[in-house]
Amino acid sequence: MQTGKILVVDDEESVRAMLGVVLRSEGYEVLEAEDGQAALAIGRREQPDVILMDIRMPKMDGMTAFRAMRQEQTGAAVILMTAFATVDKAVEAMKAGAYDYIIKPFNIDEIKIMLRRAVENRRLAAEANLLRQELTAHYSLDRVLTNSPRMRKVYDTVAKVAPTQATVLITGESGTGKELMVNTIHYNSPRASGPLIKVNCSALPETLLESELFGHEKGAFTSAASKRIGRFELADKGTLLLDEIGEMPMAVQVKLLRVLQEREFERVGGSQTIKTDMRVVAATNRSLPELVDKGLFRQDLYYRLAVVTIEMPPLRERREDIPLLARIFLQKYAQEAGRNLDDFDPEAMALLEAYRWPGNIRELSNVVERAVIMSTGRMIFPEDLPRHLSPEPQSRQGQGPASWQGESLRDLIKETECAIIRAALRRNKGNRMKTARDLDMSRRALQYKIEEYNLAAEGDE
Ligand SMILES: Nc1ncnc2c1ncn2[C@@H]1O[C@H](COP(=O)(O)OP(=O)(O)OP(=O)(O)O)[C@@H](O)[C@H]1O
Ligand SMILES: [Mg+2]
Repeated sequence: MQTGKILVVDDEESVRAMLGVVLRSEGYEVLEAEDGQAALAIGRREQPDVILMDIRMPKMDGMTAFRAMRQEQTGAAVILMTAFATVDKAVEAMKAGAYDYIIKPFNIDEIKIMLRRAVENRRLAAEANLLRQELTAHYSLDRVLTNSPRMRKVYDTVAKVAPTQATVLITGESGTGKELMVNTIHYNSPRASGPLIKVNCSALPETLLESELFGHEKGAFTSAASKRIGRFELADKGTLLLDEIGEMPMAVQVKLLRVLQEREFERVGGSQTIKTDMRVVAATNRSLPELVDKGLFRQDLYYRLAVVTIEMPPLRERREDIPLLARIFLQKYAQEAGRNLDDFDPEAMALLEAYRWPGNIRELSNVVERAVIMSTGRMIFPEDLPRHLSPEPQSRQGQGPASWQGESLRDLIKETECAIIRAALRRNKGNRMKTARDLDMSRRALQYKIEEYNLAAEGDE
């Protein structure tokens, strides 16, 4: 049995009656209208899945009704019924977005098959639409949570560039959220209803990467048993993420450059030129300018990609976000594990806030996931965290007292803070503006700390 709501539109009562009987026996709910005007009214009210509509009718013909439906953005798939003489009209309607047409007199099995496909198609489209709406809501820039001024700036930039066609380069250490940012860009762009295609440039050797991107024709090389559509083609009307672009072999870089410049390419082993309308976003945890200096990355390609560059700060430079993110992950993993965990004990949180996080947000997420498993109470305690998060005496060589036992956590944190600020001041030769920016803190806060720790002379030459 089929399910779905079909609106049959024909001025001939016998056609409507015949289709009604056949389609109801298939399981469909069938509605009828005798001209375009009635079809519009019923379509609006009943939201059918498929509209099966004659082209030649009095009052309002099928073409006019179809155009009005398009204007109203009815979700229904429209199938036009046409006599042989008006096939050209039906073809025209297909170009304008009709689902299909069928020539009268038609074979009833043909209609059944066509309807089955149309209903299924509509269902898939509706599901995809829902999913897209969820994703768009999930990545909405209105929902962004951050306490870090640096991240605010990143999101301000994203809000500006996302709606444009600009190529974007996202840089940052591993685990800083580069890929997440690509999703944010895509779902906040006019391409959100198109595909988001991702390619990891480091995962494949040169020739395979090339056919992955460009696709290939059957027999292009020994193992090419059949034709393959490449990622450039799949990303048409959407966004293409070239992840780990720093690892892209030079030979592929040259070819990519041409695609970026000309927006067209050929499949491997093919001669037909294919146009693509895609937006490219690249991500890397390497420094491309450094790779350019070493001759491992083409400078011209670098300029093409870096039209807008977004730098994801490492987590240790957005420490304000550690409690926020830690609680988000706690909620997520506790829920997944069916555990009742409220929060972090203050000492545990202090450890999270003081740690360097070389693996950034990914590492934080893993640590919290593990803590949820280790914990037995309603809170996460220091002993639920990996040992390396606790400061070791050896790792603080020469700074502060030789023995850390018996020191309060607050003192340890102060000591670490003092050491970090001292190092930053030296690095910046005492320049407080630069130091404050480096540490992502206000000048006032820095000034206050400098007084507190008596660091006024640090970095002065
Ligand atoms: N703001 C955030 N909120 C919640 N989770 C985040 C956030 N940013 C990143 N993550 C999570 O951290 C993990 C790492 O993020 P992502 O994969 O985007 O990093 P990446 O920079 O692409 O890393 P790599 O260079 O290793 O590929 C992912 O699980 C991601 O969901
Ligand atoms: Mg990534």
